[in-house]
Amino acid sequence: MNERSNNNLELSSYSNDSGLELRTSNLEPTLRSNVIITIDGPAASGKTIAGRRLASRLGYLFVSSGHYYRALAWAAHHDQIDVSKPTAVQHWLDRLLLHPQIIEDALHLFIDGNDVTPHLNNTIVTSLVSPLAALPAVRNFLLTRLRSLADQRNLVMEGRDIGSVVFPEAPWKIYMDASPEERARRRAKEGIIDNVAQRDQQDKTRAAAPLVIPEGAIVIDTTHLSISDTNQAIDEILEKFQNKNK
Ligand code: C5P
Repeated sequence: MNERSNNNLELSSYSNDSGLELRTSNLEPTLRSNVIITIDGPAASGKTIAGRRLASRLGYLFVSSGHYYRALAWAAHHDQIDVSKPTAVQHWLDRLLLHPQIIEDALHLFIDGNDVTPHLNNTIVTSLVSPLAALPAVRNFLLTRLRSLADQRNLVMEGRDIGSVVFPEAPWKIYMDASPEERARRRAKEGIIDNVAQRDQQDKTRAAAPLVIPEGAIVIDTTHLSISDTNQAIDEILEKFQNKNK
């Protein structure tokens, strides 16, 4: 991506591993250790609806870790990186500047100073993201960045390996699932071209941090649940969570 040198200057005001902007008042580091709720599961299982609801009820920051992987997929496409060549990917990552910034309560991702958030659901990104996410260099690059978000805020973070690898110690873990047919139907209804079955296969069978049900996770099968049923299931978890944290 372009404008590297300008952004080095800009980044000098970012002082933590996550790159999260510390100048904004709602990002002041908290003194106590922050609470993390993890939500994992395959594509279109309902994670985002559930995560956003939980986060907004609790006043936590909602983070889609998939956005981080998608941001890298967009940048790799933009920079014409051959994702089948791990060494080329590593060299490219060594020079890449990624930083998140909260804009109107949503996390935006900037790569080399450009906000890539509007591109994250592009068809090319969706087809590139799983092969890229299978590379250990990519996972290592994002692991520290995702973890360090918890230095700043209480989080609801969704993804594929959040309860198993990123925050295995999180006290609250949710795993959401639905039948492959139902998930493909949801994507088609949204008008999104997404080979969900192929992504699932890649995400579940890769060697590095495959999609698994994390130990101790509450499992919710949303195959036959409407959005309001899913919300209700989430509210029940929220109630237990709040009772435990009184
Ligand atoms: O959640 P979303 O569908 O946007 O994720 C896009 C892709 O990013 C997934 O299919 C997966 O390949 C990758 N991913 C991952 N680990 C995560 C989150 C996403 O490998 N924690």
